[in-house]
Amino acid sequence: MSRIKIGLIVLLVILVAIQFVQPARNQSVQASTGGIASVINVPENVQAILQNSCYDCHSNNTRYPWYATLQPGAWWMAWHIEKGKAELNFDEFGNYSKRRQNSKLKAITSSVDAETMPIPSYLLIHRKAALSKADQTLIKQWSEKARKQNL
Ligand code: HEC
Repeated sequence: MSRIKIGLIVLLVILVAIQFVQPARNQSVQASTGGIASVINVPENVQAILQNSCYDCHSNNTRYPWYATLQPGAWWMAWHIEKGKAELNFDEFGNYSKRRQNSKLKAITSSVDAETMPIPSYLLIHRKAALSKADQTLIKQWSEKARKQNL
């Protein structure tokens, strides 16, 4: 057998093997008590946008598509969720210090304004999570107002 063939077979075996190593899922069954709505007024339309575009990486519950079990994509996803949650978790927001809450609200305004959130690579697959201009305006106005009221 040629080296290329052996290489391909080895690669295939590795690809199959890693399918069995699945990261833990970000799905909490417990109702959260420290959700953002416990400290900040979140109108229904804002909540709907956050849930649709941000909660996959910034909450205790991710909606997993069927292909979320395919490796190495699942690890990549788990890594984003872990990092995203560490920075900002809407389900724990109420437990943050007031100072942290306000700095996060400010970061929400600026990241939506700069279109760095939701992260572009996520939008390639989750097109429905993209924010329209109207969504962006709504989120920016809401986060700015909430920060001023929470100061
Ligand atoms: C695919 C996962 C993913 C989605 C969806 C996502 N984020 Fe993020 N977010 C991250 C990651 C990872 C980080 C941390 C690394 C970074 O800043 O790039 C982050 C960081 C942030 C930060 C920075 C916090 C700080 O203190 O600097 C804010 C604010 C934020 N995201 C807001 C949002 C908002 C608002 C949405 C929805 C409109 C959203 N994100 C959607 C993954 C995501």
